[in-house]
Amino acid sequence: MDGAPAKVVLLAHPAGHSLSPSMHNAAFEAAGLEARYEAEDVPPARLPAAVARLAAAPYLGANVSVPHKEAVLELLDELTPPARSIGAVNTIVRRGENLVGHNTDGAGFLRALGELRGVTQPEVEAPQAADLGGATCLVLGAGGAARAVVHALLGAGAHVLVCNRNADRAARLVRDMAGSDGEGPEVAEEPAAVLPRTDLLVNTTSVGMHGGPDPHGLPLIQPRQLNSLPGGALVIDLVYRPALTPLLAAAKARGLAHQNGLPMLVWQGALAFEAWTGVPAPVGAMRAAAERGLVGEPG
Ligand code: ATR
Repeated sequence: MDGAPAKVVLLAHPAGHSLSPSMHNAAFEAAGLEARYEAEDVPPARLPAAVARLAAAPYLGANVSVPHKEAVLELLDELTPPARSIGAVNTIVRRGENLVGHNTDGAGFLRALGELRGVTQPEVEAPQAADLGGATCLVLGAGGAARAVVHALLGAGAHVLVCNRNADRAARLVRDMAGSDGEGPEVAEEPAAVLPRTDLLVNTTSVGMHGGPDPHGLPLIQPRQLNSLPGGALVIDLVYRPALTPLLAAAKARGLAHQNGLPMLVWQGALAFEAWTGVPAPVGAMRAAAERGLVGEPG
C-alpha cells in the first residue's frame, strides 16, 4: 500500500447508522495501516459511477449495503463462488484494475456460530471448518441475509428449513439453493412442528429490530413457542439493536445458548478486512469499536 493513504468506502442508501466506519477505522489503526474507511450515501442512480471509480488507487475496495447488494453484481468484473450462489455482494476487492465481488456474510455467520459453539479461533487466518453434519437448522426469513445464512449452513452440512411471511419468497430461496443432486433446503410449512427437532434457530428478519416491525409480531414462531425446542438448541437473532430481542429474551428465559447479530457483523467485517489488506484482522479491536458504537444508541 504505497503512496496516498488507501481508502475503503461503504456504498449504502441511507448510510447514516452503520457501525462499519468505526469498526474498520479501528482495525486499520490497530493493524498499523494507513487507510481510511468512509460511509457514502449513494442513491441507486449513482451506483454505477460510484463503483467504476473503485478500479484505481487509492481504493482497496468497498463494502456494499442496502439497497445495492444485488444491483452491484452486474457492475463487477468477477464474483467469488459464494457471492454468485448467494446472489449478493457485501464486499468489493480491487485486484489491479479488476473489481471482485465477495460475500462475507455467510462465512461471517459461520464464524459467529463457531463462537457460540465454542470452536471459532480468534484469528481470521485460522478458520475452523464448521461441521454441522446432521444438524437441523430452522431459518426465519428469506431476504438477502437469509440467503447468505442458508448458503453457509448448507455448505457446513446442515439440514436447513426455511420459513417466511411471504411463502413465494421462501419457495424461491429453496429453489435457488437446491444442489444439482437434489439436496438442498426445504420450506417449513409448519415451523412449530419442526421446533422439537431443531438444533439451531436463526432469525434473519427485521422483526425485533429497534424501529422495525412489531417486535412481538414474529411470523409463524412466537417467542413462547421456544419452549418446544430441545434443551441443547442454539438461538441466533441477526438483529443487534437492541442487544436482547424478544426472541433472545425468550431463549435466555429457557436457558438456551443464544447470540445476537453483533458477532456476525464483526466477523463479516473481519473477513472483508482480510480480503482488502491481506493482513489478519484485529478482531478484538473491531469488536470493541462496534460495541462502543452501540453504547448510547436507542434500544
Ligand atoms: P435483509 O437483506 O436484511 O434480509 P430483506 O431482503 O428486505 O432484508 O428481507 C427482510 C426479511 O424480513 C424478509 O424475510 C421479510 O419477509 P417478507 O419476505 O415476507 O417480506 C422479513 N420481514 C420484514 N418485516 C416483517 C414482518 N413485519 N413480519 C414478518 N417478516 C418480516
